Amino acid sequence: MKVGIGSAPGKIILAGEHSVVYGLPAIAVAISLRCRVESREIAEGITIDAKDLNTVSNYTFDQLRSLDTELADGTDSIALLVYKLLPDKNRGVYLEIQSDIPISAGLGSSAALAVSTIASVMDLFDLELSKSQISELAFESEKIIHGQPSGIDNSIATYGGLLVFKDSSIDLKELKQSFSLIIANTRIERDTKKLVSGVADLKTQFPDLINPTLKLMGDLSIEAINSIEENNIHKLGQLMNINQGYLDSIGVGHEFLSRLIWVSRNNGALGAKLTGAGGGGCMIALIRDNREAIQISDKLKSMGADVYIASMSVEGVRIGE
Ligand code: MEV
Repeated sequence: MKVGIGSAPGKIILAGEHSVVYGLPAIAVAISLRCRVESREIAEGITIDAKDLNTVSNYTFDQLRSLDTELADGTDSIALLVYKLLPDKNRGVYLEIQSDIPISAGLGSSAALAVSTIASVMDLFDLELSKSQISELAFESEKIIHGQPSGIDNSIATYGGLLVFKDSSIDLKELKQSFSLIIANTRIERDTKKLVSGVADLKTQFPDLINPTLKLMGDLSIEAINSIEENNIHKLGQLMNINQGYLDSIGVGHEFLSRLIWVSRNNGALGAKLTGAGGGGCMIALIRDNREAIQISDKLKSMGADVYIASMSVEGVRIGE
């Protein structure tokens, strides 16, 4: 029996989180952590078997047709996506998901799942969709769970590499150099809305201090792209450290993140910063080699973080492998 296969990467925000809210550029980069989906035809309905989460969800087509998307969760949105793609609504699909990307950590796991599901179903039924159609479909699916997503995650999961996001527009760039990273998840839940409104409050209270800081954070994003294009890993590390200072100064840091950041730096990382909204979530550290990675990773694990050794990735969606 034919098995459809698709996979897609997660992402990190390398620079520009929070300042992006004020129309300044942010950079997102695909990472080597991926989500992989296998699909097979079954007699009826849609079954989603999330191996990492140990959950199996079953949907009949009738259920999907009457599902209220206002109330839909992540698994419902994937079932709806598969249903939409089915060429023959008389036969069902079984999906098996395996993902390296931690969920609810700001690493784009839900977009990677949507894109890899589309790729898998395309492979299963020999469907032809362009990358822009894949990204658009994943965006529609993301809207069900995230309300108003920026479009960064579905774009990165589809195209891979690096993108610059500014004023709601996405500029895809070639990733000429791939650097290695450590990603550490504090597992501390963050409230993005609250963090964003905290920055807005500070901006109102201290406009002469916070406005220039946000502007500098946007300038730093451009410098960070240059450092990658120049293959200057030391400069990128310095910029990440400066960025962390700015992020702390606008109130989105967290004690545990800071400890992980400092231990990474003190053990050889060239730079380290929080990634995404802050206040918990994940930090990233830029590293030179594997030995260093293992040493830092062991230290961060012993402090209680979930640690992933990864690299920046040029590769986006893969279909059939
Ligand atoms: C969160 O990943 C990034 C923020 O800049 C929020 C946003 O851009 O919507 C903090």
